[in-house]
Amino acid sequence: MADKTHTDPQRMEKIVSLCKRRGFIYQAGELYGGLNGCWDYGPLGAELKRNLKDFWWRRTVQERDDVVGMDGAILTMQQVLTSSGHIGGFSDPMVDCKTCKGRFRADNVASMPCPEKPSCSVGGSPKCELTEPREFNLMFKTKMGASADESDPNATAYLRPETAQSIFVQYKNVLDSSRVKIPFGIAQIGKSFRNEINPRNYTFRSREFEQMEIEYFCHPNDGMRLTDEWLESRLCFYEEIGIPRTKLHILDVPDGERAFYSKKTYDIEYEFPFGIQELEGVAYRTDYDLGVHQKGAGRSLEYFDEETKEKYLPHVVEPSAGCDRTILALICEAFDEEVLTDDKGKEDVRTVLRFTPRMAPIKVGIFPLLKKNEEQVRIAKEIQRTLQPWMNVFYDDGGAVGRRYRRQDEVGTPFGITIDFETLGEGGEELKNTVTLRHRDSMEQERLPIAGLLAWLLERVR
Ligand code: GAP
Repeated sequence: MADKTHTDPQRMEKIVSLCKRRGFIYQAGELYGGLNGCWDYGPLGAELKRNLKDFWWRRTVQERDDVVGMDGAILTMQQVLTSSGHIGGFSDPMVDCKTCKGRFRADNVASMPCPEKPSCSVGGSPKCELTEPREFNLMFKTKMGASADESDPNATAYLRPETAQSIFVQYKNVLDSSRVKIPFGIAQIGKSFRNEINPRNYTFRSREFEQMEIEYFCHPNDGMRLTDEWLESRLCFYEEIGIPRTKLHILDVPDGERAFYSKKTYDIEYEFPFGIQELEGVAYRTDYDLGVHQKGAGRSLEYFDEETKEKYLPHVVEPSAGCDRTILALICEAFDEEVLTDDKGKEDVRTVLRFTPRMAPIKVGIFPLLKKNEEQVRIAKEIQRTLQPWMNVFYDDGGAVGRRYRRQDEVGTPFGITIDFETLGEGGEELKNTVTLRHRDSMEQERLPIAGLLAWLLERVR
């Protein structure tokens, strides 16, 4: 059984530093001091995120006959969130400290260092003076239109706190316009916003984040079974992107800790360097969501089964994953420092991100051995042009080739192609028009014909 309290702050520090240094993640607004709880993804982070979202979409929507996609608005009507219960109840308990003027999530104070005396937790120093907890609504509220009137409910909108609500609200439209039949799912990837009291653990708890959610509509008799099936399917997904099952923990949320309408909830947790924490929830939400919107809108959302002639309100199973949390898990899982010993016994540390090739931001580095050799450069550029329409590649002709390999190891590029003198035929006819292909993880090298490179790579990076 894994130790839930085990943390490795030094490893986390190295990961955060690498992410900034190599262009994965920056703090939003850093030039002006930073916007707390918001993050920008740099060139490599954006590629990584795109790979994750594209693969999730492919496996969840395109390769299934029973799931369709949608892309809902972020600005959300007040009525939607009143019906869903977010306006009345989407809050965390908050306390203030009258001494340091800090605000803290009441249920987290024991694990938060006191800003004035970090050796103590919040409330643990004799000087701390905490107020009674009070509820703080986590939604960002805004006004729509030029003549926004405070008292006009139609002028008030919210940044959505989850992508799920637009799916429930459009469920009937999707049903009527897509020829889907129960059971079927609607999937969505998009931004959500929560005014978290204490954003923490890097991107893990942010105020702006992306979710990848599926609302799977089913017959009431099938909800429990489908919850277990979705759990299994989501665990397979994590394995396919390079997060092994041994690092995942399934929390079967006990009675009394689940949302009141949920009959079953599994949290899929990952061993982050800051502790075992939730990546995704798989929840059986019964007919709660369609029920509240049916009532709120005064429109029937019932389903009529043509075959059985049965009419019922569908139940919902919801696998809801955090995109940013999965990105963080991918980076934490991939990060490695390998000690290498050279022929003279000298030790060196190689930093390497061992991303699975389908997630890697750059699939292949392309290196002419000598920058000044026109023929090598010409062939390298030609290979670049051939591969570019299919995958993200990186051309690098600067410095010793060993150093170029290391730069790519550090950002997780699984393959390196070197165009050398053998490529030009100087090592004999049989090696002409072949390149050196280097594997990131083993550092082993092999020779491959240029003509077969694209097919060889496509088989490994998709
Ligand atoms: N529709 C259900 C729902 O939103 P949730 O457990 O509140 O459920 C689902 O959120 C997932 O969204 C979480 O498992 C997590 O991965 C991600 N998530 C939630 N709040 C987050 C935050 N403040 N920062 C980053 N990701 C978050």
